[in-house]
Amino acid sequence: MAQIFTASADTRLRASLLAAFLCIFLVVLLVGGYADSSYGTLVGWVRDQPVPFSHEHHVAGLGIDCRYCHTSTETSAHAGLPATHICMSCHSQIWTGATMLAPIRHSLAANVPLQWNRVSRVPDYVYFNHSVHVTRGVPCVTCHGRVDQMPLMSRAAPFQMQWCLDCHRNPAPNLRPPAEVTRMDWSDWDAHPERHKDFGELAMKTYGIEPAKLTQCNICHR
Ligand code: HEC
Ligand code: HEC
Ligand code: HEC
Ligand code: HEC
Ligand code: HEC
Repeated sequence: MAQIFTASADTRLRASLLAAFLCIFLVVLLVGGYADSSYGTLVGWVRDQPVPFSHEHHVAGLGIDCRYCHTSTETSAHAGLPATHICMSCHSQIWTGATMLAPIRHSLAANVPLQWNRVSRVPDYVYFNHSVHVTRGVPCVTCHGRVDQMPLMSRAAPFQMQWCLDCHRNPAPNLRPPAEVTRMDWSDWDAHPERHKDFGELAMKTYGIEPAKLTQCNICHR
């Protein structure tokens, strides 16, 4: 009977097994790297908008509070994007002829909302709610970054499960008085970590926040 596996066939088999193994290894590395990289998470990405709206100018420059434009942060799941008449409360008087603002005037005249391109998003199968976070004193800056330094909006956090869970396991260091959630700069507290720690622990007790409950799957996947 002829030999089925020659010595060279055996070597070829070993070589191809090794190659297959290396391929799988590389794919795992690449996928892992992709998920963590800014390509996968979109951190720092900026999107084109119908009007080049600057948070830096309106928030830091003019001192307008987030809630003036994102009206439902404290009351609903969605923060909400501003209706055209909110822009027009000023821009019917300031920069009335600017071509940059033409889409706003058109939106008002035609009664069609501006189509802002979304920067922060979680997939549909994830339940997120602004009011539960904001009314417990989780600040905007923790999740959205220094919006007051963004001439164009960019994504500050990965919004991946791991990121949510990292805070849900230990929210205390991120809590502050709910009245201060829209404040971007908190340097007086940052300089006193002990004050922040005491407050965080007190807030956890006051609101009855239980990390063991917050990490259960059905909190975010309903
Ligand atoms: C409280 C008043 C106020 C509101 C509300 C307001 N703006 Fe402005 N906006 C200003 C002022 C003041 C300027 C600056 C004019 C200048 O250069 O001095 C400005 C400038 C701009 C500019 C020019 C680029 C820049 O940032 O310098 C754009 C674009 C703009 N606003 C868009 C908007 C949009 C879109 C909205 C609604 C979401 C809006 N603004 C709401 C007051 C306001
Ligand atoms: C004058 C109105 C105005 C004020 C004040 C304002 N925003 Fe906005 N915000 C907008 C507009 C218009 C957009 C949509 C265009 C864009 O993404 O830049 C937006 C978009 C955003 C987005 C991106 C949402 C998404 O998914 O696309 C975040 C996050 C945000 N704002 C946070 C804040 C925070 C935090 C503050 C307060 C520090 C604030 N904004 C103050 C008008 C405003
Ligand atoms: C715990 C993290 C967290 C905090 C705190 C938070 N956001 Fe968000 N924000 C998100 C996530 C996640 C999304 C995407 C939600 C989605 O896809 O439904 C989002 C989306 C948004 C949007 C897009 C439009 C919308 O209605 O969802 C705006 C505007 C916004 N946030 C503004 C704010 C402002 C202003 C504050 C503070 C008052 C704030 N956010 C606090 C995580 C946060
Ligand atoms: C910086 C801290 C922080 C981050 C980041 C964060 N959360 Fe939370 N989350 C909290 C706190 C604090 C509460 C309030 C818990 C309470 O009142 O019992 C909460 C509550 C919630 C609740 C309501 C729980 C309930 O009792 O019904 C949901 C849903 C939720 N978070 C989803 C998310 C999702 C999804 C993300 C990521 C996209 C996220 N959170 C990111 C701190 C955070
Ligand atoms: C605090 C909120 C939160 C909790 C709690 C949570 N998830 Fe998620 N989950 C998310 C978010 C946000 C995503 C969005 C996908 C991502 O990570 O990019 C996600 C994505 C997923 C996915 C999609 C696959 C993936 O990783 O992209 C699966 C499966 C999943 N979660 C399972 C679970 C299971 C099982 C539990 C309980 C052990 C759980 N989740 C608890 C927020 C949560």
